[in-house]
Amino acid sequence: MIFQAFLTLFYNWQIFLQGGTSGLVTFALKVYGCQMNVYDSDKIRTALVRRGWAEVPEEEARVVIFNGCSIRDKAEHKVWSELGRYSSRWNREGLPVVAVVGCIAQNIGKDMISRFPWVRMIAGPRHIGAIPDALEELVEKGGQIILLDEDDRAFIDLPVPPSERLNPLKAFVTIAHGCDNYCTYCIVPFVRGRFVSRPPEDILSEVRQLIDTGVMEITLLGQNVNSYGTDFEKTYRFSHLLRDVSSIEGLRLLRFATSHPMHFTPDIVDAMAVSPRICPGINLPIQSGSDRILKIMNRKYDLATYTAIVEMIREKLPEVGLTSDLIVGFPGETPEDFEASLEALRKFRFDLVHSAAYSPREKTAAANMKDQIPHAEKKRRLNLVNELQSEIAYEINSSLVGREYVILVDGPAPKGEGLLQGRTPTDKVVIFRGDMTLVGRFVKVSIEEAEHWCLHGRYLHDLP
Ligand code: SAH
Ligand code: SF4
Ligand code: F3S
Repeated sequence: MIFQAFLTLFYNWQIFLQGGTSGLVTFALKVYGCQMNVYDSDKIRTALVRRGWAEVPEEEARVVIFNGCSIRDKAEHKVWSELGRYSSRWNREGLPVVAVVGCIAQNIGKDMISRFPWVRMIAGPRHIGAIPDALEELVEKGGQIILLDEDDRAFIDLPVPPSERLNPLKAFVTIAHGCDNYCTYCIVPFVRGRFVSRPPEDILSEVRQLIDTGVMEITLLGQNVNSYGTDFEKTYRFSHLLRDVSSIEGLRLLRFATSHPMHFTPDIVDAMAVSPRICPGINLPIQSGSDRILKIMNRKYDLATYTAIVEMIREKLPEVGLTSDLIVGFPGETPEDFEASLEALRKFRFDLVHSAAYSPREKTAAANMKDQIPHAEKKRRLNLVNELQSEIAYEINSSLVGREYVILVDGPAPKGEGLLQGRTPTDKVVIFRGDMTLVGRFVKVSIEEAEHWCLHGRYLHDLP
């Protein structure tokens, strides 16, 4: 206790030495989890930079903001261990001041604030708009700030576009907050609150602002983008939004994620089929191939319904890139249920599958179900899924050798000197040799070699 009080005193003294907030406030932002966290973080960064704060490397930052994820135990673990690393700098300098925000803060932020004296603030995802003021207050006055989402319908927005991003060419735009589906394994409804679609005017205006700053590709985000508008009184659904966003002048490519098989109606695919700007890529999580498990998961579809949707999509969009999510080792998953999931992978031949071993999440229904699968068995099943899917993806990608694609060059490839990368309209990564001046341009490439997770191409020529 006395030690803590001493640290607080020391911390306030440090702020005094640094001239309160009159000097430049330096910050670092650490982002974990899904694209929605990336979007929120880009907005937080933009708001802070607009207030004159400066982003610096983590070791030099006075304030470190963690925007963390709670989807699986591993995601939380990562943040716990990162937080622990500040102990020596804190003991030496009384810095950094750490704020934990987002889903992880809503879920376990209170434990984090009581465990580490350097964690000074926690804020849930629906308090995003309150974060910049709260951080300023923290730097000015010290103390502790707790902004958890008690009302799961209220939303304090941060009305800035995500202008300060890593990639100047591409941006995410969230179109709906929260989720009401309560799949029995999933923490999202507990941490992100109720489903609320953003008004179309807000989305369209944000997209326009982003395009004005040079953005060429927009990805619309939501836990269930295709349920967009189901909470409006007027009839304005996801397909209407797709049509309206894709006709904004200056936009070149439009993508979206994630779709839920429920509410995945043909009008969405019709809108995609008529606009060359809407990329033919769909992530349609299946989660399990067993009807029995799907029911216990509360997924609200069975394999026959899922099959009918995939058939509808492939009929209207023969070139579609179809990806999926799959959980192995859900409580009570028998060898037969698991075999049904493998069979589903063989049947649907997805381009890519985000697979995960089931991770029990406190508060969710499945965490208390009996017949939890042992860790080693979940791992074994996960390996089998990954091996099978890797083969399928390699076969699909190999069949694309010789094809030509027009892609937007995103930037240098993460590995390999002189290599650039972009994505096909179907969302496959293409790596090719080329000059950095091609970044931000549309180029034609021919595919020469396949890997299970990417394609290697040859640059042919650029396009206007
Ligand atoms: N809204 C999307 C998915 C959001 S969460 C949908 O309904 O499909 C992203 C992925 O994380 C999920 O598709 C699921 O595969 C995985 N996931 C969620 N909770 C999980 C848990 N408790 N254990 C393992 N994986 C989980
Ligand atoms: Fe989670 Fe289900 Fe909602 Fe997706 S639909 S976010 S899996 S509760
Ligand atoms: Fe994680 Fe929250 Fe996204 S729990 S997956 S960051 S919605």
